[in-house]
Parts: sequence; C-alpha cells; structure tokens
Amino acid sequence: MTKHVHHRSGVCGAGILGVGMAVPSQVVTNADLEQIVDTSDEWIFTRTGIRERRIAGPGEYTSDLATDACRQALSDAEVDAKDIDLVLCATTSGDHLWPATACLVQDRIGAQGAQAVDISAACAGFVYGLQMAGALIQTGAVRKALVVGADTLSRHVDWTDRSTCVLFGDGAGAVALGQVPAGYGLLGSAMGADGSRFGDLLIPAGGTRMPLTPELLAEHKDKLLMHGQEVFKFAVRIMGESCLAALDRAGMTPDDVNLFIPHQANVRIIRAAAERMRLPKERVFTNLDRYGNTSAASVPIALCEAVRMGRVRQNDVLVLVGFGAGMTWGANVVRWSRAEGDGSR
Ligand code: UT7
Repeated sequence: MTKHVHHRSGVCGAGILGVGMAVPSQVVTNADLEQIVDTSDEWIFTRTGIRERRIAGPGEYTSDLATDACRQALSDAEVDAKDIDLVLCATTSGDHLWPATACLVQDRIGAQGAQAVDISAACAGFVYGLQMAGALIQTGAVRKALVVGADTLSRHVDWTDRSTCVLFGDGAGAVALGQVPAGYGLLGSAMGADGSRFGDLLIPAGGTRMPLTPELLAEHKDKLLMHGQEVFKFAVRIMGESCLAALDRAGMTPDDVNLFIPHQANVRIIRAAAERMRLPKERVFTNLDRYGNTSAASVPIALCEAVRMGRVRQNDVLVLVGFGAGMTWGANVVRWSRAEGDGSR
C-alpha cells in the first residue's frame, strides 16, 4: 500500500529549506579603526565583543551581497529559482531609494515568476520577513520564498563618529522557505514596534521630510544617528520578552531551546538576554567578533554559519530574535526540518 504524507487540511508547516550568506572580502579590524577615529581595540572589544567587520568595496552593493546569499540558499535547498513565488528583501540600505532591492535580486537570480518586495524594519527586518513569508506559505498563497537580510550600513555610517562607526559591518544572509510537515518550521512568533522611539536610531535627512542640501550634508545629517544607551537598555528588555512570548505561542519554554540565534549587535546585550532566559552559553550563537553588526543580515548570517558548523540538527528548536530602528523587534521559534517529505534529510 502506498504511504502518503498527510497534512491536516489547510495546515502545513513553513520551514527553512536552505541557507546562504555573503560578506565583502575586505576586513577592517579594530586596529584599522584606531587610525580613523579616537578609539582602541580594548574599548571596542570589551564594550561590544567586536574584533573586526567586513566593509563593502567600491562597486560592491547591497544587491550584490543579497544575490550571492540567495543563490547559495537556493542551491542548498535544491530549489530552482523559477519555482520561487516571493523574494522578500529586508534592508535599509538598498541600492536605490526605490525600486526595491528585492526586484534587482529577483531579476539576477532568474526568479521570473516571483513577486518581489523590500521590508524596512532595520535590524529586525529579517525576523519580520521570516514571519511574513512563513505565514504566506502556511496559507498556501506562496509555495516557495526567499527571505534575504542584506545591508551595507558602512555607506550610511558617519565615519567621524566613534560611538557608531565601530559597530557596523556589511553582509547578507538568506533562507529559502517552503512547506514542511506540520509541527516543523515556524512554530510561533512575537513581533512588535514602538514608533515613539524612532528618534533613538535614524538617518534624519535624505527623505521627503528633510531633503538633502549642502548644509545638511556638511552636518552629516544623511548619516546614522543613534542614542546608544537608550537602544541598549531597550534591546536587553525586548529581546528577552519577545523570545519568551514567541516560545509561549509555540507552547514551549526556554528549556526546549537548542540554539538561540540573536541579532549580533553587542555581546553584552546578547548575554543579558540569554541570562533572562537562563540559557547556558553553549546554547547561544555569536559571531559578531568577526562581522560586527550587519543589521538585517546578522540573524541569517548567524543561522547560516551555525548550520554550516553542524550546530543545528534535525528536530532542534531555534529561537531567532532581532531588534532595530523603529524601534522594531521580533522573535521566531523554528523547529528544524529541511525535508518536505518525511523529515529525514
Ligand atoms: O542594531 C541595533 C543597533 N544598536 C545597538 O544595538 C547599540 C546598542 N548600544 C550599545 O551597544 C552601546 O551603548 C555602545 C556600544 C554603542 C556604547 O557602549 P556604552 O557602554 O553604552 O558606552 P557609552 O555610550 O556610555 O560611552 C562611554 C564612553 C564615553 O566617554 P565618556 O563620556 O565616558 O568620557 C564615550 O564617549 O565611551 C566613549 N566612547 C568611546 N571610546 C572609545 C564611545 N565610543 C567610543 C569608541 N572608542 N569607539
């Protein structure tokens, strides 16, 4: 008798079928930054955990990194670009003000049948996109999707401001999403925003409210402005809260978590959030020592490295959490399965 894999009617899981990542080849160390601003390797490492970051070279743009990461995710998932229904790019440093960088990626990877759109949720963009694309797959509206977080914030950083320029790096991370058996893939999310805090992290000029003028450019108003301590305090609280809420929606507790994959902004924020959930450090993934804060790319780059290092196994429960300008934040609980059939791959 033929054995069929059944999903309860209308209920299937949305899972990650493949991962990819791309970072520029140019490495900028803390020692290199000592030549640019009044800082030290000691200050940067003890306050943030960052040792070096990758910075895009001339002619290297967000869409290039995103395209590379998407191609890898497709090949890892063994999915043809022509079968992709949705390309969702989380970025706040797209190649152009518009159209969406996702459209450039869609064309370059050959996903002619896909709808394509960008999400602007800063460093939380990827976790937002994962939830949204996952929900579309769960309803059946989309069969296969690419979600890519890609940013080149080095182009928006004020290289005379030591309190911010040491923090960021460039990169892209992507996942290919598709159907997995019910009970696998995305199991619960908790997303949020607090627009009253938009002034804590923003680029003031260059939009319609404050069009660029020579004066504004001279004042670096087209560059990233951040109230670091405000963001820090908020991030510690919101990371813990959103993870607990997402776990609760998945019917789980922190004890069920095999690997915590947080936004890589500051190792002290990550440690504080992990402590709130009483997670031992073996279950916390960090790689910001090598990449800094790559904004929307940080969570998918961390996921990709964790998978490639063999730290994610079939059935493992992952918590992916991010926060960023807006303020925006969100956590996704994922039970790992890359198989569409019996979950054995
Ligand atoms: O994706 C979301 C993005 N943002 C974040 O997650 C950022 C969250 N915030 C943070 O990670 C931290 O607040 C920072 C790393 C940005 C700053 O660390 P901090 O421990 O909050 O330092 P601080 O702002 O309180 O500054 C302490 C001192 C100041 O000097 P004084 O006033 O005490 O003399 C700063 O001027 O450190 C000084 N400082 C630096 N010194 C050397 C600030 N940046 C630097 C630097 N090198 N790069």
